[in-house]
Amino acid sequence: MRTLQVRGASAPSTVAIGETAAALGRYVGDGRCVYVTDANVAALYPQLFEGREVFVMQPGEAHKTLDTVEAVYERLLDRGVDRSTTVVGIGGGIGCDVAGFVAATYLRGLRCGFVASSLLAQVDASVGGKNGVNLHGYKNLVGVIRQPEFVLCDLSMLRTLPPRELRCGLAEVVKAGAIANAGLVDFLEANAEGILGLDLAALEHCVGEAVGVKARVVEVDEHETGERMKLNFGHTVGHAIEKTLGLPHGEAVAVGMVLAARLSVKRGMLAPAEASRLENLLARRGLPTSAPMDRQAILEAMGKDKKRRGDKVRFVLLEKLGQAALVPLGLEELEAVL
Ligand SMILES: NC(=O)c1ccc[n+]([C@@H]2O[C@H](COP(=O)([O-])OP(=O)(O)OC[C@H]3O[C@@H](n4cnc5c(N)ncnc54)[C@H](O)[C@@H]3O)[C@@H](O)[C@H]2O)c1
Repeated sequence: MRTLQVRGASAPSTVAIGETAAALGRYVGDGRCVYVTDANVAALYPQLFEGREVFVMQPGEAHKTLDTVEAVYERLLDRGVDRSTTVVGIGGGIGCDVAGFVAATYLRGLRCGFVASSLLAQVDASVGGKNGVNLHGYKNLVGVIRQPEFVLCDLSMLRTLPPRELRCGLAEVVKAGAIANAGLVDFLEANAEGILGLDLAALEHCVGEAVGVKARVVEVDEHETGERMKLNFGHTVGHAIEKTLGLPHGEAVAVGMVLAARLSVKRGMLAPAEASRLENLLARRGLPTSAPMDRQAILEAMGKDKKRRGDKVRFVLLEKLGQAALVPLGLEELEAVL
């Protein structure tokens, strides 16, 4: 097991990589605990929820909404939950986001922790303190930044994760390497079969390195005024692709990263060979590197992106694999690449 601390300005957070969900009691303590999970995870891991107070949401992005949040609030109200209660999200990024948002807002804040059960949640969604829900189809438009007390990344739970979801999580690991950890890119090139084959040592290394990248960025810029935006590499276009084409988050981000790398080459910032390396790394692990995009719909979706400043989008480009830069770009420049 590897333990990392995220020293957020608002609060610290402990991320235990390779910890099992069965050890949750040690992190929660003796107080009351309410779990938030989704129907898939609840069905696969009934032993985790037996005799517990659980809110089971429907899986999927369409349910990561204020309606679901309100339904959880109502359950907490009915059950007379008070400030001594801990809310624990057990699941992928969606369950953790909903649980984190509820915990941050109900009674102006309850204790909160996560058991991240998808690779994407382990390397990205559960770490860093962002807890958001969707509004009118726009991703994570409503949310708060608040660190969870603990995040348990139970690697053994990845055995039941559908392979497509595993690959989506891998896209975020690639992102972490591409923006800030060239050694992780090398490791992924050499060991991706081990990761997709669920080799625990390879997984622990990748999850640890990816969480390390996120922790360092969050520590210097928790509220995303600059450095943290680099974590959005591949996400500005990725979110728009996700919305317009309905691709899963990780696949949309993979396509977004390829476009951002090509744009970096076009601007003379990145060597073409580095962009090809990134593209090959994604393609050889079964991630898409292009998508049948409706250019206008994507530009419109991006116009509503939270990262937009005036007429410019703060775009994350690469200088080399392992080093990102923030560049303000006009939508017309993006249009040319799309
Ligand atoms: N808060 C953040 O900083 C942040 C960062 C990145 C992504 N996100 C959000 O995370 C979400 C995507 O996360 P995700 O891909 O984990 O989505 P998800 O929660 O929908 O999980 C993907 C699927 O896997 C299932 N699942 C989860 N764990 C499983 C397991 N161990 N075995 C079998 N099935 C399992 C889920 O039921 C779901 O069907 C998006 O909503 C995205 O916006 C948030």
